Amino acid sequence: MDSTVRVLPLRCRHLVLLFSALLAAAAAAAAAANVPAVYIFGDSTADVGNNNYLAGSNAKANFPHNGIDFPNSRPTGRFSNGYNGVDFLASHMGFRRSPPPYLSLANKTNHQVLKGLAGANFASGGSGILDSTGSTITMTKQIQYFSILQTSIMTYIATDRTYQLLSKSIFLISSGGNDIFAFFTKNNTPNRTEIDSFIATLASTYEYHIKALYGLGARKFGIVDVAPIGCCPYTRSLHPAGACIDILNELALGFNTALKSQMQSLSSQLQGMKYSIGSSYAVVWGIIRDPNALGYKEVKSACCGAGKLNGQSGCIPNATYCSERHLYLFWDLLHPTHAISKLAGMAIYHGSQQFATPINFKQLVEQN
Ligand SMILES: *[C@@H]1O[C@H](CO)[C@@H](O)[C@H](O)[C@H]1NC(C)=O
Ligand SMILES: *[C@@H]1O[C@H](CO)[C@@H](O)[C@H](O)[C@H]1NC(C)=O
Ligand SMILES: *[C@@H]1O[C@H](CO)[C@@H](O)[C@H](O)[C@H]1NC(C)=O
Repeated sequence: MDSTVRVLPLRCRHLVLLFSALLAAAAAAAAAANVPAVYIFGDSTADVGNNNYLAGSNAKANFPHNGIDFPNSRPTGRFSNGYNGVDFLASHMGFRRSPPPYLSLANKTNHQVLKGLAGANFASGGSGILDSTGSTITMTKQIQYFSILQTSIMTYIATDRTYQLLSKSIFLISSGGNDIFAFFTKNNTPNRTEIDSFIATLASTYEYHIKALYGLGARKFGIVDVAPIGCCPYTRSLHPAGACIDILNELALGFNTALKSQMQSLSSQLQGMKYSIGSSYAVVWGIIRDPNALGYKEVKSACCGAGKLNGQSGCIPNATYCSERHLYLFWDLLHPTHAISKLAGMAIYHGSQQFATPINFKQLVEQN
């Protein structure tokens, strides 16, 4: 499923005029935003519909009741009742929400390619940092798609101008949870040596991907860490008493710690690289520890699903769903609600060191 953005030759004068108008419109849209573009990579926490284009994949959410609180109650492929975390992060940067899924821009018109000037979302539910995780669009493939888009953009605007725009753009990455699930599925009682070696591999593979993006012109990285995946309805449903599965949280914490030092050392190697790591772990853990403080009612079971804690099946059309969605931590067996994504977006964008280090996303956007 190799896809390329087909670029049509600019033959007639009226087309040139059309594109100048589109470029002006793209520039105006960018002027309203605080960054020229946002490019998004990762898994289902960031996917806004790429998987809709994957024939035969079951890692999809483009059907009800997903999207029930999205404008016009539209299921878009987001694993949420409304927006997801990257939608809110993009909106803090001045965009309406996440840019469109890359596969909705591929093989389309020049107009669609130009939309890529304001960003694109390459994330794919089910994928991980490691190419061996899942069977959807791997991180390596997502970066190849970005490279195709970058080349297309350079056919419209000068190479140096493209690099200038990319250096001011934000590259958002949210991944790692699926790698940990895959590791746990193979071995649910790993010893210290196995854990350390797995985490080292994840962190060094993350570094490899960041370097690839840097090589394509990325400079500003907004990274979202792994949430306490041992406490989501799916994992609780595996525990006889519905408790959290501690080893999954330990793996997430271990990875998040390794990611911090890996990024710190990387930023001293790569000239001009800047980053912020937003902690979905801190946000979600804070809510689980004290739901009442922020007025949430249900932090164990999913709003939409089936079976124990609504965590044994995805949010498929015949699943049951709750009405008080703003009081739930989890929308489905694995993903947070619109309300929690909004809170996480706020904490990561504007929050203190507890929620984003070494700077928050707002400071990342504002840095020259
Ligand atoms: C784009 O076109 C290529 C080659 O024609 C095809 O293999 C690919 O599936 C198409 N991608 C999409 C998203 O339609
Ligand atoms: C961890 O498990 C592996 C087998 O998977 C074994 O070879 C190794 O000796 C164990 N290490 C410790 C410290 O128990
Ligand atoms: C919902 O549909 C799936 C198949 O799509 C089926 O396996 C499941 O049993 C159904 N659940 C209920 C509660 O009807």
